[in-house]
Amino acid sequence: MHTVTLIPGDGIGPEVTAAACEVIAAAGVAINWERVTAGAAAIDEFGTPLPQPVLASIAKNKVALKGPLTTPVAGGFPSVNVSLRKKLDLYCNLRPVQSLAGIKTRYENIDLVIIRENTEGLYGGAEFPVGPDGAVASRSITRAASRRIAEFAFEYAVQRGRKKITAVHKANILKKTDGLFLACCREVARAYPDIAYGEMIVDNLCLQLVQDPHQFDVLVLPNLYGDIVSDLCSGFVGGLGLVPGANIGRECSIFEAVHGSAPDLAGKNQANPTALILSAALMLEQLGEKEAAGRIRQAVERVLKEGTRLTPDLGGRATTAQYTEALCKALQKT
Ligand code: NAI
Repeated sequence: MHTVTLIPGDGIGPEVTAAACEVIAAAGVAINWERVTAGAAAIDEFGTPLPQPVLASIAKNKVALKGPLTTPVAGGFPSVNVSLRKKLDLYCNLRPVQSLAGIKTRYENIDLVIIRENTEGLYGGAEFPVGPDGAVASRSITRAASRRIAEFAFEYAVQRGRKKITAVHKANILKKTDGLFLACCREVARAYPDIAYGEMIVDNLCLQLVQDPHQFDVLVLPNLYGDIVSDLCSGFVGGLGLVPGANIGRECSIFEAVHGSAPDLAGKNQANPTALILSAALMLEQLGEKEAAGRIRQAVERVLKEGTRLTPDLGGRATTAQYTEALCKALQKT
């Protein structure tokens, strides 16, 4: 029996996390879920979006499955997602973007891995008003954080048999900050002569991705570019409802979808839970439940391929609950 922290989250979070828990149970993995509240949902109860029991639970269990958390735009409380990543030092945001059987898009056979630095860059929250009509945000890039994300990317490539890493930057303009990030990637690359290494300016990367995503394998990026490029790449495989992710640190990991709390769908039983279910499969792999993780992926592909129980984002009319039920039934056949 594994004990895992569960953060249902805001918006569609409670619906998609409930679906993931059902699917894990149907795959036969026993998990003792330690449920904690964070985000907008925690403010009424605790007066803060990140109550101490959330951090304590993750620090104890080392693994969490998390629904999306809302961050108010321009004002309100700071991002709980950023705080969790920084406080627990979850320095790597890993996002595998892969085509799924049954999902037709303009792109076929996509198999990209996004490795995003998760603790610094523009996400430090260092913003200041300058007089009544100006504002400045400061961006921090360090050698330590840049080297360890580059090392993660190369080690990941070695372990997973990936062939090529592209470091993404804007060092033509941000000469000191992205310049340092790039210098660290180059240094680390020298220790891995068997992995091809390339570099690309982020605006050209966006063009190249849209024109021919197959030229890339693993992308390693500073925080903001990784965030933006993740949503772009999710479009290759059918959208945000399908792409999983993991926030990985030396001590703890939080598994969550790339998507946010989708307020437009909250409470409507229409969200696609696949992204969180595939994030849960990544979590099961880390917990040593590789066979169950594989069966969950097979069940997802089987239901998507059958195409009769698709959620509205994929052109279907099934509810979150109906799609989840179909997955649980498919798991009985795998
Ligand atoms: P979003 O990812 O929530 O939604 C963007 C679009 O994708 C919307 O049209 C939404 O309906 C659709 N979508 C997202 N997930 C879906 C799913 N599972 N099934 C079907 N359609 C789905 O991004 P948005 O609107 O920019 O952000 C909303 C809130 O989420 C904000 O407060 C933001 O800060 C937060 N957020 C939280 C994240 C996290 O907790 N890791 C990540 C990204 C955003």
